Amino acid sequence: MDEARIIDKELIEEFSNLPEGFWDFKNDDTKELTHSIHNYPAVMVYPISRNILKIVNKYRSSSSLLDPFMGSGTVLLEGLLAGCTEVYGNDLNPLAYKISKAKTTPLHCDLDKAFNDFANKLDQKYDLYSVVLAGIDDYIFENNYDITAKINDKTNWGANASSILNAYLSAHNSDLIIPEIQSVGFWFVPRCILELQIIRNLICEIADTDLQDYFMIAFSETTRLVSNRRNGEFKMYRMTPEKVAAYKPDVRSTYLNTLSSNICKMKAFIKRAEDRVLGSVHLSREDSRLLSSVPDQSIDIVITSPPYGDSRTTVAYGQFSRVSLQWCDYDTLSYKEIIDIDKNLMGGTPFKKGFANCLPSATLDHALSEILKPSENLERAGDVFSFYKDLNDVLKAVTKKCRTNAYQFWVVGNRTVKEVSLKTDQILVELGRNLGLKHIMTMRRAISNKVMPSLNSPTNVSGKKAKTMCKELIVVFRKE
Ligand SMILES: C[S@@+](CC[C@H](N)C(=O)[O-])C[C@H]1O[C@@H](n2cnc3c(N)ncnc32)[C@H](O)[C@@H]1O
Repeated sequence: MDEARIIDKELIEEFSNLPEGFWDFKNDDTKELTHSIHNYPAVMVYPISRNILKIVNKYRSSSSLLDPFMGSGTVLLEGLLAGCTEVYGNDLNPLAYKISKAKTTPLHCDLDKAFNDFANKLDQKYDLYSVVLAGIDDYIFENNYDITAKINDKTNWGANASSILNAYLSAHNSDLIIPEIQSVGFWFVPRCILELQIIRNLICEIADTDLQDYFMIAFSETTRLVSNRRNGEFKMYRMTPEKVAAYKPDVRSTYLNTLSSNICKMKAFIKRAEDRVLGSVHLSREDSRLLSSVPDQSIDIVITSPPYGDSRTTVAYGQFSRVSLQWCDYDTLSYKEIIDIDKNLMGGTPFKKGFANCLPSATLDHALSEILKPSENLERAGDVFSFYKDLNDVLKAVTKKCRTNAYQFWVVGNRTVKEVSLKTDQILVELGRNLGLKHIMTMRRAISNKVMPSLNSPTNVSGKKAKTMCKELIVVFRKE
């Protein structure tokens, strides 16, 4: 038996003998180090990648790692800590890029001093702008602006917040300028916008770009926390008009608390890493079907969790990121680039008028024909096909980047569309076989820690919900 097959056998044996529920990590702290510096949908808790690396490395070292769907960068940080010398991460979402960069870039400056300097300067800025901050709510009230107005109310606050605020600021001879951010008045109350801009301006004055990026991540998280969004949901829904009218978020404390907590996390990361030389992290923001920035045949191990389906009907990563990206990156990203994110993610290409299923998966074929039984499901079947077509292309691109005998770990969830179960793990195995990937095994885990909706509406009938995603599957391949 050749060495690769011997390692396969050893891995199968070790994985098979893990205790029941090993991959669930129900009671683990999943927020250590820089892992939780910023919220992100459907994060794959870090003990998964940490344990995969620990077990695989017992039998064969992995010096290069790739996560083609890095999201918040969980796998990348674990790869660095496990001693990978080249760590590649990719995601089309610019927010994922920013979080991953901040999470994996050690900051060796005096962080307590940086925090105190910033907090002091922020106090000075609040003093400087005390008059405009104190008067803004009265101004809005006296001028009859309705801060609960809808986005499309062209005559009111909702669509004109920036110009209303700038007129007010210039009447007070203030040098503060509010940028034109689409829908800013819909998502933020007036004083909150002024405070956010004061904080953002100060962050932009930080000369060290890595430090500035780290401070900006806390700002990005703050924009979400102080916005008018309803709590506890990844989809963006605004609070009720009554709640918006009474909402007075404490922006300064929210930012400083988030920053202070993130600084503790960075210190913990630095401490954990002090006895080792960290590898290099290479981040890209391209379509995972391409991965042109990753050298061919260079990767020893892939650990990844792709989306469960298209953004429209599963998790809308772009929508989740929108408010933050508009505030943080209004000078580098256009509004169109930001609102188009979801369209460009997996399964975003519509096949409204039909499709020819060319994918080598009998399981997918069967599921599509079941969905298509009522012919009015054509569009929905097209969405499903679109997702798996992209998944096949990503699998192809990832495999091209792998060395022979590289292992690939795909953490996937099976969902239901039109009451038809989509067995993504099985479909992946069939697609992989066609690409020269040997299926080593598939493991199960319960997703108690995964932050994502556990109910969806697979029938698209309002109110009719089905339970979904209570478990995930870890599909293991080796490139032959
Ligand atoms: C399940 S999340 C990954 C979460 C990540 N494992 C973590 O722990 O944060 C899937 C990611 O895939 C990204 N994505 C979806 N389609 C993509 C594509 N075609 N190219 C690149 N990234 C894509 C999304 O932006 C999202 O961040």
